[in-house]
Amino acid sequence: MTSTNDVDQITIGDSLTVGRIGYGAMKLTGDQVWGPYPDHEKAIAVLRGVVDAGITLIDTADVYGPHSNELLIREALHPYPSDLVIATKGGFVRGGYDYSTLDAVGNVNYLRQSAHLSARRLGVETIDLYYLHSGRATDAPFEDQVGALAEMQQSGLIRNIGLSNVTLDQLRIAQAIAPIAAVTALFNLTVRTGADLLAAAEQDGIAFSPWHPVTLTDGPLASRAADVVPPIAEAHGATAQQIALAWQLQVSPQSLPIPGTTSLEHLKENLLAESIVLTDGEMRELNGIAE
Ligand SMILES: NC(=O)c1ccc[n+]([C@@H]2O[C@H](COP(=O)([O-])OP(=O)(O)OC[C@H]3O[C@@H](n4cnc5c(N)ncnc54)[C@H](OP(=O)(O)O)[C@@H]3O)[C@@H](O)[C@H]2O)c1
Repeated sequence: MTSTNDVDQITIGDSLTVGRIGYGAMKLTGDQVWGPYPDHEKAIAVLRGVVDAGITLIDTADVYGPHSNELLIREALHPYPSDLVIATKGGFVRGGYDYSTLDAVGNVNYLRQSAHLSARRLGVETIDLYYLHSGRATDAPFEDQVGALAEMQQSGLIRNIGLSNVTLDQLRIAQAIAPIAAVTALFNLTVRTGADLLAAAEQDGIAFSPWHPVTLTDGPLASRAADVVPPIAEAHGATAQQIALAWQLQVSPQSLPIPGTTSLEHLKENLLAESIVLTDGEMRELNGIAE
């Protein structure tokens, strides 16, 4: 991992340049990521606040709601500012309110339909960044699923292909089929599921978008984080979430965290994390939470 925080932009694929901190819109849904966010006007205000604050990447998925999250983004922000990149995902389905009904579908016609309908809901002709939501569908070969995204890229429906929650082996298989512009995975101070993907992203110069980036309560190492993070936060006059984000930015120049918030106050705080410079010693301590 390279320790640096002097990179203030990141390029996705060969042409999309975005700021280092994006916005994850998933929390603007109902309980269990099911249905619309209960306070519609607030959700619209948060999304407009995201753009007003200068954020140039919003992460969503067709399964958030399902569908309501993409429709909300369109309602709040369409016509989109020219520098705004919207990343969405396909390949997950929900069987109802219970989150345990989340399942993966790899049928290539389903994936094609999903991308067409995401574009329609978002009100775009071309989706800037389209992720396969997971590598776990077993109803179609992984290679065919990536192949379907490659065809959609060639036809102009997708500008860049991303992979979400895949293994390193799957990333390598996919890269032999099509250019992969971004990967996204669970990665934060206490859970480093995506660490091998981050290393690969650094090696290949592709974007790595850690999800759950500010969450400090994941997994058995949460109590270690509860010891390590507060003194560092105090030393910087910062919150624990700001330290979590500053760490994400310094861990790698390829890191593109997408913190989610329903609060305009937290949104502003999160962006201020870009100005926090962690010392090498602090980085070692924070890295050590999960090493
Ligand atoms: N690819 C995938 O499979 C996948 C899976 C999960 C998520 N994601 C994406 O990743 C994005 C981020 O993940 P996430 O939203 O689950 O987790 P997260 O960004 O780590 O944490 C969001 C939570 O942290 C709180 N928070 C954010 N900023 C804060 C601050 N400055 N101070 C205090 N609390 C703060 C939010 O509460 P408040 O609303 O009160 O601020 C919210 O409850 C999602 O929105 C989604 O776009 C992708």
